[in-house]
Amino acid sequence: MSAESKVAEASATIEQLLTLDVSDRKTHAEIVEKCRAVISALQDPAAVVVETLASVTTHPSLVALSNLGIFEKLAAANEPLTGAQLAERTGGDQALIVRLLRIAAASGIVTETGPQTFAATGASRMLAIPSFAAGLRLNHRTAELANSLPAYLAQTENRNITSYTNGLFQYHYKTDQGSFEYRASDEAWMTDFNLFMTVPNNTGNSWPETFDARGKIFAGGAVKINADTPLVVDVAGGMGQDLRRLKEYLPLGSFTKGQLILQDQAHVIESVPADMHDDAFTYVPHNFFGPQPAAYRGARVYTLKSVLHDWADEKAVEILRHIADSLTPGYSKLWILDRIVPETGADKALAWLDISMMAIYGALERTQEQWAGLLQKVGLRIVSVQATPDHFGLIEAELETAVLN
Ligand SMILES: C[S@@+](CC[C@H](N)C(=O)[O-])C[C@H]1O[C@@H](n2cnc3c(N)ncnc32)[C@H](O)[C@@H]1O
Repeated sequence: MSAESKVAEASATIEQLLTLDVSDRKTHAEIVEKCRAVISALQDPAAVVVETLASVTTHPSLVALSNLGIFEKLAAANEPLTGAQLAERTGGDQALIVRLLRIAAASGIVTETGPQTFAATGASRMLAIPSFAAGLRLNHRTAELANSLPAYLAQTENRNITSYTNGLFQYHYKTDQGSFEYRASDEAWMTDFNLFMTVPNNTGNSWPETFDARGKIFAGGAVKINADTPLVVDVAGGMGQDLRRLKEYLPLGSFTKGQLILQDQAHVIESVPADMHDDAFTYVPHNFFGPQPAAYRGARVYTLKSVLHDWADEKAVEILRHIADSLTPGYSKLWILDRIVPETGADKALAWLDISMMAIYGALERTQEQWAGLLQKVGLRIVSVQATPDHFGLIEAELETAVLN
């Protein structure tokens, strides 16, 4: 078969793939995974290395484009725009914009439709949304930190990083403080961080629906619905984004004050903007390294979403111990909503998060075995585990003693 016919045959197969109806996320993820495997098998080793080298320049270029407002202009236009038009609409330098957009196009973030002409894609439309743009800026600052990794490891005999107060973060910023304390007075970081946390974790789907939160809360039928017993305490719940998702999903209609509790650091609770404030919530400044106040013990569910991946085991155990102490045996549950690293085949998104957690907090993403080990240390056992195709999971746990009751 000639080279041309091979290309024609491969193109026909690809065209066919593009027309496949893959609306369910699991099938979609499986097909994307298979396509990736094909690319890896076909790609020249040098091309793989070059792609990795190029990624060092992709991210800062995207941040620069975002700061210029290019993604917003492309999204608003609904048609391709030339470099000249973009320069005129943003006040930027045409030559620079085109150079930056070239790497964005080569990375699949925008489409190049002609000479110096570019169009929005689904990805660039996402980057035009403020919460995703905030994530881009945060990740850029994490990349600055991660750049110090080789130098730091050379000093520490290449040991794994497992300390919140004595790791890469302290080395890079020349501070004794942990990341949360250090960043508390960094207004730009805090604004971007809290904004980025409002992005849904499991790519669009609401986790309460994905994991049947309603079924889990009302399982067994003996749920106490009154103002004196908290139903859900979202520990370190940020601005209340998840409590809101949960409230919208639960069938109770109106909630009695005292049932839905949002806890976080005082400065986070105080900065909840008016448009995110919910009268049904009880807002409680609470440091999770201390005991749960009496009023918030014995809830049906305590949620820890994307919290424990910020903490290496020693500190994570402290947080968990205080929650375990406040559980009512046989009634209360802990829901850990976090990533579950598969034993093999962790994808880029997961590995990126793991290294980021190591750099910022001396922390990690965990496998199911690591989660089980952590819970066991505080007398909790896993009741059920569910995970999305992108490895975001709900681990439901209860007191080991509950089994005996
Ligand atoms: C990665 S964010 C997750 C926020 C939210 N649960 C979510 O999934 O969007 C971690 C949260 O832990 C909170 N946090 C950090 N240290 C804390 C502490 N000592 N006590 C309570 N909350 C803390 C932060 O303020 C932040 O809101």
